[in-house]
Amino acid sequence: FPVDRIRNFCIIAHIDHGKSTLADRLLEITGTVSKTEKNKQVLDKLQVERERGITVKAQTASLLYNHQGQQYLLNLIDTPGHVDFSYEVSRSISACQGVLLIVDANQGIQAQTMANFYLAFEAQLSIIPVINKIDLKNADPETVESQIEKAFDIPRAECIRISAKLGTNVENVLQAVVDRIPPPPVSTDGPFKALVFDSSFDHYRGVVANIAVFGGRVRRGDKIVSAHLGKAYEVNELGLLRPEEHPTQKLFAGQVGYIIAGMKDVKEAQIGDTLYLQEQPVEALPGFKRAKAMVFAGIYPMDQSEYPGLRSAIERLTLNDSSVTVQRDSSMALGAGWRLGFLGLLHMEVFNQRLEQEYNASVIVTAPTVPYKAILSSAKLIKTRRAVQKNMVYIDDQRVMIKYLFPLNEIIVDFYDLLKSLSSGYASFDYEIAGYQAADLIKLDILLNGRPVEELTTIVHTDRAYSTGKAVCERLKDSIPRQLFEIAIQAVIGSKVIARETIKAYRKNVLAKCYGGDITRKMKLLKRQAEGKKKMRRIGNVEVPKDAFINVLKRK
Ligand code: GTP
Repeated sequence: FPVDRIRNFCIIAHIDHGKSTLADRLLEITGTVSKTEKNKQVLDKLQVERERGITVKAQTASLLYNHQGQQYLLNLIDTPGHVDFSYEVSRSISACQGVLLIVDANQGIQAQTMANFYLAFEAQLSIIPVINKIDLKNADPETVESQIEKAFDIPRAECIRISAKLGTNVENVLQAVVDRIPPPPVSTDGPFKALVFDSSFDHYRGVVANIAVFGGRVRRGDKIVSAHLGKAYEVNELGLLRPEEHPTQKLFAGQVGYIIAGMKDVKEAQIGDTLYLQEQPVEALPGFKRAKAMVFAGIYPMDQSEYPGLRSAIERLTLNDSSVTVQRDSSMALGAGWRLGFLGLLHMEVFNQRLEQEYNASVIVTAPTVPYKAILSSAKLIKTRRAVQKNMVYIDDQRVMIKYLFPLNEIIVDFYDLLKSLSSGYASFDYEIAGYQAADLIKLDILLNGRPVEELTTIVHTDRAYSTGKAVCERLKDSIPRQLFEIAIQAVIGSKVIARETIKAYRKNVLAKCYGGDITRKMKLLKRQAEGKKKMRRIGNVEVPKDAFINVLKRK
């Protein structure tokens, strides 16, 4: 394929503005998938994506398109719309020269429309504004065009009005891709050079890397080297994605496709890595800035015997999603596990759902936390900082963009849902990290008969200390069985007790039900009691069942 007839583009949009629907239409029009296949949202391959109706993983498809007697190769990279997945978006963008910026004709510009526009703008890509859902009764494409002109400085004449659902004007989008997006600035003559922009793990074939070829060509049997590790591999298979794998003999500069080269270890195919031919070393491409994890949670196997299985599941899943950070962790109560970092709450939920669905893992997930920096001085005496308004821009006479500075832990749990319900769904929201701020936070300890339970220690805002302490004490009371002595459960700050619950003494005689002298039955009961004890953790003189920790630590 001559490079000047190749276009690499992606579709970016606010969530639900119709990216996946448009992608389906583009695949149909170009005959990549048949219309009869009632496989809606072809690019949303993951079970979690179909269930939640959102795109999580960027997917790639190569389309063949005939335009004015010429055949073009259009490489489409689908991207997720949610703020938590903007790392996937910026990765896709690095393999493209242009984007389709979709805006819902009814909702207009929303928070992630802005965020995604800036990603594309900074990367200096050609931006094609597409106004979708013009079939809706309340569609107002004129207003949306004015918004686009005002917010992005793109002339309204450049907007394409479509209905992805009905297929109206979608052909014009393909023409615009050919006419307005430049071919990739690459040359087939030079040495082979490819960017790994995504990778996944296949149980049978090992690592499958998605690559954008920036120079030269590669064919089956070639010896290639990954710049990151300097290791050499032989190419077993390569091809295009249509969107399923379509093996070919070679990949050329300008093409986007997949490559399988006997990489067995998940760490061998780093996203952002450069591949080149062993006999023609080249300088590595710039790669990617790592996304910063901002929401952390502990993940433990339900049962310690499942640890090795869960470990390999996490390793494989993090290869598919390298924005998750993994640290080994252990808790006296829950055993060996990990502390994982995510870009946001939805990201965390989707990761856990994928662990369960794709790897059949049953896990305990602890409540999420955000990172803090503690300064051990009187700085914590500084007054509480709540949201601070930074600036306000009118996008048009009905829409305003306001920037606030927020404590991250205030927005990770339920802020988004609250905002949506308060504004009846009109407000939309996006965030970026502004750095650490001093705040009025304190360490809350939980004591059992005077002994601190380290896994229940948390950092809370002063205003929330009392309610949190009380809730934890109550939940513990409900899940610790009575013992031979009284147990005091206390929530304390420093040396001050702020909440307390008491479990009354009780003598549990497991043999009570055994009258008569059936010795085997007695032994069985005693053995069962001993097994039960193994699942207990002793804190001071108090036996705490594993379930009690799970009840307190687990997300509800
Ligand atoms: P994410 O992948 O989660 O970011 O969503 P998306 O942007 O891919 O949106 P999707 O294609 O899933 O569409 C969201 C909803 O809008 C679906 O219910 C679609 O059926 C609907 N929709 C998409 N395009 C149109 C359109 O042109 N007209 C109408 N009426 N509905 C549409």
